Amino acid sequence: MSLHDALEWRYAAKRMNGQKVPLHKINAILRAAQYAPTSMGLQPFTIFVIENKELREQIKPLAYNQPQVTESSHLLVFAAWTDLTGVHVDEYIDEIVATRGVSVESLDAFKKAMMGFVNNQTAEAKIQWAANQTYIAFSFALAEAALQQVDATPMEGFNIAAIDDLLQLKEKGLTSVTLLPLGYRDEENDMFVKMKKVRRAKEKLFIHL
Ligand SMILES: Cc1cc2nc3c(=O)[nH]c(=O)nc-3n(C[C@H](O)[C@H](O)[C@H](O)COP(=O)(O)O)c2cc1C
Repeated sequence: MSLHDALEWRYAAKRMNGQKVPLHKINAILRAAQYAPTSMGLQPFTIFVIENKELREQIKPLAYNQPQVTESSHLLVFAAWTDLTGVHVDEYIDEIVATRGVSVESLDAFKKAMMGFVNNQTAEAKIQWAANQTYIAFSFALAEAALQQVDATPMEGFNIAAIDDLLQLKEKGLTSVTLLPLGYRDEENDMFVKMKKVRRAKEKLFIHL
């Protein structure tokens, strides 16, 4: 299936039927998030994969009782780092050295650039930056889900502070950004299943110069 066909097939499912998504498809979706590009390659986020039904029951009221939270089989929670420091930069440099077999010294200029960012941005700006990176991984996961013919609902409709409390994210240096329930559409009860896509016309959306 082409990406275009997959994007036509997908929609933000409002109801799911409880059927379980097989592990190999979940893994493919997670891999897409893992391989998403990010600014400087830092991947400043953590993704929780919640299959536990009881935990999803607890999350549902914190997400305006949206049924997909419990009717899906897996709920991804994308959480951004709130505490980007030089430690993260050092870990990343170590990872590059180990993966590519290059010297630490050869990465000095890159490290300096990253440390400039870490030291010169406000805490708020760094969290916003980390959240922006999270959306890239979230989008890649959403697109891969469509290619895997797995339904997914991108969600911002939840209480960030309450989810952060429940999952103890603050203690982990994280804050929740988006949710992504994964499952299968409930053809009978979801009135959006057969609705046409509403998108701005390409003449309005694109300016060719
Ligand atoms: C970042 C983001 C947050 C969204 N939050 C919600 C949400 O909380 N609940 C929901 O049912 N749909 C949510 N949506 C779905 C959008 O309403 C939907 O993607 C849009 O209307 C286009 O429709 P389509 O995805 O079915 O093509 C969200 C979409 C995005 C990208």
